[in-house]
Amino acid sequence: MERHTSALALVVGSNGSPSGPDLPVHCLRPHAATIAADWFVRHFPGDVLYAVKANPHPAIIDAVYAAGVRWFDVASVPEIELVSARCPDATLAYMHPVKARSAIRRAYFDFGVRIFAVDSSAELQKLIAETNGANDLHIIVRLAVSSDYAQHKLSGKFGAAGPEAVMVLREARAVAEELGVSFHVGSQCMRPEAWRVAMQSVSEIIRAAGVTVDIVDVGGGFPTAYPGLIPPPLIDYIEEIKAAFEEMPVLENADLWCEPGRALCAEAGSHVVRVELRKGDTLYLNDGAYGALFDAAHDGLVFPVQLLREKGRPRRPMKAFKLFGPTCDSIDVMEGPFFLPADVSEGDYIEFGLTGAYGSALATKFNGFGEYIEAVIEDAPMSTMYGGVTQPAEIIALKDAVIEL
Ligand SMILES: Cc1ncc(COP(=O)(O)O)c(C=O)c1O
Repeated sequence: MERHTSALALVVGSNGSPSGPDLPVHCLRPHAATIAADWFVRHFPGDVLYAVKANPHPAIIDAVYAAGVRWFDVASVPEIELVSARCPDATLAYMHPVKARSAIRRAYFDFGVRIFAVDSSAELQKLIAETNGANDLHIIVRLAVSSDYAQHKLSGKFGAAGPEAVMVLREARAVAEELGVSFHVGSQCMRPEAWRVAMQSVSEIIRAAGVTVDIVDVGGGFPTAYPGLIPPPLIDYIEEIKAAFEEMPVLENADLWCEPGRALCAEAGSHVVRVELRKGDTLYLNDGAYGALFDAAHDGLVFPVQLLREKGRPRRPMKAFKLFGPTCDSIDVMEGPFFLPADVSEGDYIEFGLTGAYGSALATKFNGFGEYIEAVIEDAPMSTMYGGVTQPAEIIALKDAVIEL
């Protein structure tokens, strides 16, 4: 893979003339994933499972492994194959609550997976049948909780609630070697107390079911510092979880797990695109909603941006731009606003920061686009949650987020 000191070095030729790439570039900063994972390993009072879906790039898997992460949340057979091949000593947890029968068999018999999530009796029956009534299963019952404090809600699709949750917990307890509960407060959760509220509602269900619980998995949802979405320091989230865990009606030696995706890899990626056309305050780019900028289009996320120009060019005032991606679809639009120098024009390159989570992982080939260059970039991400000092300075802008270089 190409290696550069910065994204600017990637697009500017050594003789000073622009010789930028024709394709958009996934910039990887594996060192940032290692720093994030190391923070979680040191501060989370339990086991940290990397949610592979957020960024399954082998360099990111290796980077979190290098920080000591040995547990991985996987959601499909290809994710299981990927992690098993790279990290043979890893423990895999198959946390998708709905799995194909063939996938359960492959996971259990071919890869030795013993941890499975379910959120219904029907899925539990499938799991029992496809593992031939195994007696070594660690069954994690996914429960529905509120997503009210999260930017990206995950409550609509998975999670058992009410009497059904009570029934699934009892049924799972009867067959599980270890029984766990899990939930997801929603992605990019801006309020640490969301976990306390969730853990209280999960506790009520455990009490109603009257079961012994060996594992509490508090899911993902830990945030990144995007412009306009600056969360409290991560340590506040850890403190809430620790305190709420103490109050839960679970075994005294119950295990505590978390499954961060975004928080481990968002800072480890950025994305370089080229302006193909300017029409007034609108820029047409060579990547967009069907590519690595999915969240900017569909979730209204405003990534930090910087124009990649040689040093020494005069600074221009900033202006708000709306951005279009390259496909013919009119929903391929990122409203932003994205602030860039007023004279941005065709041929300029823009770097989007903090795209490491759900960026390249979501890119499609729609309309014939979706080809990328990959490069390792050695400098720091545009901002970080892992600055090592207390809030508000903990979220440190490592670069002026909107700058003409
Ligand atoms: C079961 C599960 N765990 C963890 C995650 C990771 O969430 P996040 O990236 O918000 O930390 C997800 C995301 O969808 C998930 O579905």
